[in-house]
Amino acid sequence: TAVLAETTVITADRMIDVANGKVVKQAAVIVNDNIITASGRLKDLTVPNEATRIDLGNATLMPGLMDMHVHLTSDATRHGYKRLEVSLPRAAITGVKHAKATLDAGFTTVRNVGAPGFADVALRDAINAGDVVGPRMFVAGPSLGVTGGHCDSNLLPYEYDNYSEGVADGPWEVRKKVRRNIKYGATVIKFCATGGVLSKGTKVGAQQYTFEEMKALIDEAHLRGLTVATHAHGTNGIKAAIKAGVDSVEHVSLLDDEAIDLAKKNGTYFSMDIYVTEYILGEGEKAGILEESLNKERIVGKTQRENFEKAVKAGVNMVFGSDAGVYPHGDNPKQFARMVKFGMTPIQAIQAATINPARLLKQEATLGSLEKGKLADIVAVPGNPLDDMSLMEKVGFVMKDGQIVKQYAM
Ligand code: ARG
Repeated sequence: TAVLAETTVITADRMIDVANGKVVKQAAVIVNDNIITASGRLKDLTVPNEATRIDLGNATLMPGLMDMHVHLTSDATRHGYKRLEVSLPRAAITGVKHAKATLDAGFTTVRNVGAPGFADVALRDAINAGDVVGPRMFVAGPSLGVTGGHCDSNLLPYEYDNYSEGVADGPWEVRKKVRRNIKYGATVIKFCATGGVLSKGTKVGAQQYTFEEMKALIDEAHLRGLTVATHAHGTNGIKAAIKAGVDSVEHVSLLDDEAIDLAKKNGTYFSMDIYVTEYILGEGEKAGILEESLNKERIVGKTQRENFEKAVKAGVNMVFGSDAGVYPHGDNPKQFARMVKFGMTPIQAIQAATINPARLLKQEATLGSLEKGKLADIVAVPGNPLDDMSLMEKVGFVMKDGQIVKQYAM
């Protein structure tokens, strides 16, 4: 005897059609097991009689949110030297809590762009096996970087001989690291193209890796069918990485017009974490962030927001990337209101967290919108976020892969 598929119809006062950039009123999404079979205006759809009905009332349905820059195994209350107290197994266990907080906030997919010890691979596998609750994860494993660069660990003096496992210098070393990351389960590659804010002794403006090394690294990843994300604050590093074919640039703080043109020409995505500056400058000192890092943040934070506005106006491909892990997991949605404050329309901000990341990850066939045939990753917020973007911080309904993981009265 055939087992009947379970059908659910979710209705709400409105839905965001991210593929067309429109709002649909009196909307419904029909889900069969874990697949969306129809969506649109309720009156235009045929709802099977036996379907389970979930009416969310004055709420807004949208695709599951996607954050392209998180570190689920990092703890926002431990920065600088406090990080040295955390063992790899302890970090992995912390990741379990953070995965749930992230999913509860409405993020059904994340790209984890750097984790020592392949803790992100372990977490992803545990989520996929149903052992723990969390978002769909695309994972980088250890980030690649030059000796002494932002992706190395530079806190201890030389006699400790301490370095991060993603350190690789020279075209063949970087190719080998890419291969090693893939061997142990990475599905994206992350590297550092410039110095950073939170690393000791690096300059945010200075390029790390030569063009030759970047080209080798990115070619190797692309050969194997993986996309590449690069950490880059400084203009030269940003431009070199774009010319070398990188898929997304993270942070993108110090831009010039040529960098914007290059990104547009190459279809490169910008993932600009414009909320985190508020946490770093507000809570950072208590959390152990070094004084030199606070000073660097005072330089890049404001400029990054101005450049976000410029990039949006110029029409660069934008994705939502928060750098949660630097700030508390679950607070990811706080960035939405800032994205609108700094130049996006509310629909653009929601597209940046749905359809655009699906394209960046080359997962548009299954993720990123509520269109027929896609996986049932669906969230809802109370009221209308197009009138008040802070409502994105109040996600009250979350379905991932057809399973309801959160349902509050809205
Ligand atoms: N992980 C990044 C770094 O250390 C955080 C940068 C945060 N600042 C910002 N304005 N986005 O460089």
